[in-house]
Amino acid sequence: MYNLLKGKKGIIFGALDSKSIAWKVAERAHEEGATFVLTNAPVALRLGTIAELAEKTGSKVIPADATSIMDLEHLIDESKEILGGKIDFVLHSIGMSVNVRRGNHYTHQDYNFTKTGWDVSALSFHRLMSVLYQRDMMNEWGSIVGLTYMAAQRVFPDYNDMADNKAYLESIARSFGYFFGRDKNVRVNTISQSPTLTTAGSGVKGFDGFVAYADKMSPLGNATAIECADYTLSLFSDLTKKVTLQNLYHDGGFSNMGVSTAIMDEFMKSETKEEEAPVKKAKK
Ligand SMILES: NC(=O)c1ccc[n+]([C@@H]2O[C@H](COP(=O)([O-])OP(=O)(O)OC[C@H]3O[C@@H](n4cnc5c(N)ncnc54)[C@H](O)[C@@H]3O)[C@@H](O)[C@H]2O)c1
Repeated sequence: MYNLLKGKKGIIFGALDSKSIAWKVAERAHEEGATFVLTNAPVALRLGTIAELAEKTGSKVIPADATSIMDLEHLIDESKEILGGKIDFVLHSIGMSVNVRRGNHYTHQDYNFTKTGWDVSALSFHRLMSVLYQRDMMNEWGSIVGLTYMAAQRVFPDYNDMADNKAYLESIARSFGYFFGRDKNVRVNTISQSPTLTTAGSGVKGFDGFVAYADKMSPLGNATAIECADYTLSLFSDLTKKVTLQNLYHDGGFSNMGVSTAIMDEFMKSETKEEEAPVKKAKK
């Protein structure tokens, strides 16, 4: 351990269970000397195991639905009390699509579900930063990080409306990041993480194939949740003070690849099999 976050205080959104990326961030932040408040939606607190994490990291848990401005205001005010003042870091690790959950295809969305997913996954980032900004809750040189996925830039058909939500989230990071930087010397960035086996991740259709493909495509292989936690901590630390308004790929190199030899080998194997026993080609 490096004592990277010694004396720093923060708020971590989105730890549902031990697979959650936010859970790993909380464990690592604790090891690096940070103190923080944990938060999640009231329903997630009932279903998940966050109390275990709170005990392990000596943290308080405050419920907050990220779609409710009142909940967020209450969370920020309570956190100020608990942590004894302003804070240095915030992790937004929240994502949910009702269309994905209900199995609605991208071409046949229920727009009320679309709005709910956007509200939870994207607009919540704006709402959260708005409360932090207006209450002047962030210390100078503090850091705010949101988690995202590369479907914001490229097509991954089964990622559904979450692709649009992530594009919106990344845009908010830049737009709000400007004002946070200019007025308060606070950084705002998004980390674009490899596909990772968590509750949110596994909701995506064909997720195992997705993970295996990305792993074979990436020269360094997929980044794990723990590796994502480590990268997040570097952005919370004083070592990255001038990094802001960025969407940072943490994906083993996937985002700059065209094709890898491993994928080509797989492709040629399946082409040969198809030639031997022709079958109806799957849709692209
Ligand atoms: N797992 C992946 O493959 C992957 C890849 C890239 C980015 N991400 C992103 O990482 C973040 C964390 O996801 P995860 O993979 O750890 O899964 P997860 O399911 O463990 O975390 C998602 C969290 O969002 C919370 N949440 C949902 N609705 C909420 C609301 N209304 N208010 C407050 N919190 C709410 C859930 O309770 C849960 O804790 C998400 O933004 C996700 O899109 C995940």
